[in-house]
Amino acid sequence: MNGGVLFTGISELRTPELVVSDAVLAVEGGALAWLGSAGELPEPYCSWPRRDLQGNAVLPGLVDSHTHLIWAGSRIEEYGRRSRGDSYENILAAGGGIHATVAATQAASEEELLLAALTRARALLQDGVTTLEVKSGYGLTIEHELKMLQVARRLAESQPQRIVPTLLAHVVPRDTPRQTYVEMFTSELIPEVRRQGLAEAVDVFSDEGAFSLGETRTILEAALRHDLAIKLHAEQIAPTGAARLAAEMGALSADHLEQSSRDDWAELVSAGTVATILPGAAVVLRKPFPDARAMWDAGAKVAVATDHNPGSSPLYSLTLALQLAISLGGLSVDEALVAGTRNAADALRRPDLGRLEVASAADFLVVDGKDSLLPLYAWGARTIRSVYIGGVKVMSVDDDRTWPGFDRASDAGGRH
Ligand code: NIG
Ligand code: FE
Repeated sequence: MNGGVLFTGISELRTPELVVSDAVLAVEGGALAWLGSAGELPEPYCSWPRRDLQGNAVLPGLVDSHTHLIWAGSRIEEYGRRSRGDSYENILAAGGGIHATVAATQAASEEELLLAALTRARALLQDGVTTLEVKSGYGLTIEHELKMLQVARRLAESQPQRIVPTLLAHVVPRDTPRQTYVEMFTSELIPEVRRQGLAEAVDVFSDEGAFSLGETRTILEAALRHDLAIKLHAEQIAPTGAARLAAEMGALSADHLEQSSRDDWAELVSAGTVATILPGAAVVLRKPFPDARAMWDAGAKVAVATDHNPGSSPLYSLTLALQLAISLGGLSVDEALVAGTRNAADALRRPDLGRLEVASAADFLVVDGKDSLLPLYAWGARTIRSVYIGGVKVMSVDDDRTWPGFDRASDAGGRH
């Protein structure tokens, strides 16, 4: 037990299921060696060097299990049109929407895409996200899908957050017959992505206006043959049976679920498939908000993610997504935290993340105040004082203060 560090002076530690007052975290080799209340610290740890967290609360690092972080161009004009009543579906069918982002992303260099993604990842980090999934899906050719996943790899190498890359079958390119695209995706792209180790999972936008259920099955079968995990964009635009297909095929998660039914949830529960809701897309597209409360009560493992993307969810804050899941989805505050940590990590097949327990990764947030749930309460405020990944401090609000008199979140119920 050499070389470890103790984090002391923790007013309240949330794991996320348990709450410990006056807590200590013992970190060694990037993982948690011990945690508990200060009065019960075992003798062997007492000689470890200490870092005093000064009476602030600690939470597990947040996990954003569904993002389209890499993209170029702008959809602001489309956002304005939709605000005046144009539908997302019509804009997509007319060659705009996702296709507009595809054109801009194909035209962008790896460097341009990386720079833009770094800025977005930084915003998520300041908001407490220590792990994020990043999808391809705006490339639509072998060359450009691989380019996107190369950017995801460089993103993982050039900043501290943990990145989990996913290959996404998003839509069929407008100039390609459907069958040809599915064939290219399954027999060339998936094997190449697997060969280069560029993704951990394959996702399909299985919906009206995107991939049919049959096409989805073909793509997912190819993914499984190549030992990649699978997940789905399911039941967003129309009820298609995609959530049940996700369950049947053993997907890690079924995401969106705006149009899902109780029968769908029952299948997800039996399969152990995570039910991921994406509050940004539901609210921005003015769709029915998924009934997270009923899903949770039905036994589903509910996760919440940003779905960050330039069209349906230009959202740079997972805490805001969690707040929406509380206010519009009916989750309790502590359930929402589980949905943005442990359950989201399970959706990424990373059981060592999203919780604080012995042997889990030492990814944690120091809240700006003594109440651990402050980040789920104060809307739009900077409530996270610092972020640690693998026990190393990777963000501090102090580094971001650029003018004298900047006054953290003190009005939001933090410190007075
Ligand atoms: O998860 N639903 C499909 N894909 C994205 C939207 C992508 C876009 O509009 O650019 C989503 O909402
Ligand atoms: Fe998405």
